[in-house]
Amino acid sequence: MTIETITILTGAGISAESGIATFRDPGGIWAQYDIEDVATPEAFARNPELVLDFYNMRREKVRKAKPNAAHHALAKLQKSYPGTVHIITQNVDNLHEKGGAEVIHMHGAHHTALCAACGARWPAPPAMALHDPCPECGQPATRPDVVWFGEVPYHMDRIGEILQSTDLFVSIGTSGAVYPAAGFVRLARAAGAEALELNLERSEITPLFTESRHGPATELVPAWVDGLL
Ligand code: APR
Repeated sequence: MTIETITILTGAGISAESGIATFRDPGGIWAQYDIEDVATPEAFARNPELVLDFYNMRREKVRKAKPNAAHHALAKLQKSYPGTVHIITQNVDNLHEKGGAEVIHMHGAHHTALCAACGARWPAPPAMALHDPCPECGQPATRPDVVWFGEVPYHMDRIGEILQSTDLFVSIGTSGAVYPAAGFVRLARAAGAEALELNLERSEITPLFTESRHGPATELVPAWVDGLL
């Protein structure tokens, strides 16, 4: 089968070797913080300072991080592949962009701020403060532009269309624990795609893939890309 369209889903594992902690590995972010304290709309309503501090700290960490060999390899694939390469990321870091790729941020991004009052977006300041006014409407309703638990991920219509018309779906560095992203492999396969998983270890959804390779992203991803180009 000719592979004209490749759709790649990335998760925290692709940025792990850039020094950004994953969520569910031992010592990961959800072992240090409670989701209910920092990653829900209710948490932000209850204790906005705590939530802003958490994201300010993570934004600062990401600002200093550099893309690794896996991010660079995907950017190379996107530029050089004779067909179409879509990259959808669950990550809120900008390491794909720093590596030269164009990505769809389904869970939002640290580098933008969102106005909860009017929906405007603008480049996030290094540290967001509670009463920062929105540059569009002036309301003191600034919030991180990240999708919290209980909110709807971004760009789902476009992602649905992409998954319908892909020949190969590739999942990189994600545990498959969080929906809707964890369901993308099923949608792509139902539409006739092959599916490859590149992850440090078996994930919760490994059996859904046609092939699964295990190891660090900085080794697996460049090797896979070199094999394709
Ligand atoms: N190379 C490849 N894979 C790795 C590496 C590595 N160096 N290090 C860790 N992994 C794998 C882990 O084995 C695990 O399966 O990456 C996966 C990371 O899983 P999670 O921590 O659950 O991250 P992710 O799947 O991106 O989480 C999904 O959950 O809370 C949220 O919104 C957050 O977008 C995130 C979503």
